[in-house]
Amino acid sequence: MRDLNEETITAEVVTRLAGATDPRVYQISEALVRHLHAFLREIEPTQAEWAAGIDFLTRVGQMCDANRQEFILLSDTLGASMLVDAINHRTPAGATETTVLGPFFVEQRKPFPLGENMSEGVDGTPMYVSGTVRGVDGSPIAGATIDVWHSDEEGFYDVQQGDELAMRGIFTADAAGRFWFWSVRPKYYPIPDDGPVGEMLAAQGRHPFRPEHVHFMISAPGFETLVTHIFAEGDPYMDSDVVFGVKNSLITPYKRHQAGTAPDGTQVDRDYVELNYDFVLKASGPSA
Ligand code: BEZ
Ligand code: FE
Repeated sequence: MRDLNEETITAEVVTRLAGATDPRVYQISEALVRHLHAFLREIEPTQAEWAAGIDFLTRVGQMCDANRQEFILLSDTLGASMLVDAINHRTPAGATETTVLGPFFVEQRKPFPLGENMSEGVDGTPMYVSGTVRGVDGSPIAGATIDVWHSDEEGFYDVQQGDELAMRGIFTADAAGRFWFWSVRPKYYPIPDDGPVGEMLAAQGRHPFRPEHVHFMISAPGFETLVTHIFAEGDPYMDSDVVFGVKNSLITPYKRHQAGTAPDGTQVDRDYVELNYDFVLKASGPSA
């Protein structure tokens, strides 16, 4: 077909998709074309604006390497990651809610025995973390794997500061589904904003901060892996998280304690905080 115009071009592009053999590829491509064309008709970009948009996406791609994933940041800051998360985790009542994985999870973390300190000597307010892992029916999940990572008290993750891993580790729940360990208190922090996504946030009049949180990824055979984090009650950024990841059910007090004997019997010589949270996993499989 020739002489396509503003009115006829969308239908012609959709017609050309007819050869897609995978119905899902057809469905996604057709919706993409339809929504993209509707977006362009709505905003009526100038040629210069369209070129700027292409330059922006090019620079997002160029910013990506083994340690930096600018496209995930873009998805996170546009609320797309949390929307995909919500679509994929229509969590049954009683199961812990999910939130974004974020870019600071790394595969090379190491296992620690229960009760151990995973801060690796990083300076900060001691933090005692404890809780249980259960199924929706309330039964403890013995041996659940608890992957944890968080920032330091300046708001930086280990991977932003060098090659030494710290404030991250893997724990295995005991026979009653309990876990407990020590680390240092994290802090609210800005997502990496020295690239195109940071430029976008500034242009949109938005700050780059996430409220204080500890990340958890909890898994066990027969259960869906839970990716979530626990937020510190009272954080100034709770209602304006730059990646839209806060849920009420994930907010808990980081209780302050004076120096003394901690719940696990440890003698602590300075004030510390305690974070306690009970996680509930959803069973995997068709009946879940
Ligand atoms: C994080 O919490 O680690 C995070 C999540 C999304 C974007 C940037 C950081
Ligand atoms: Fe984080």
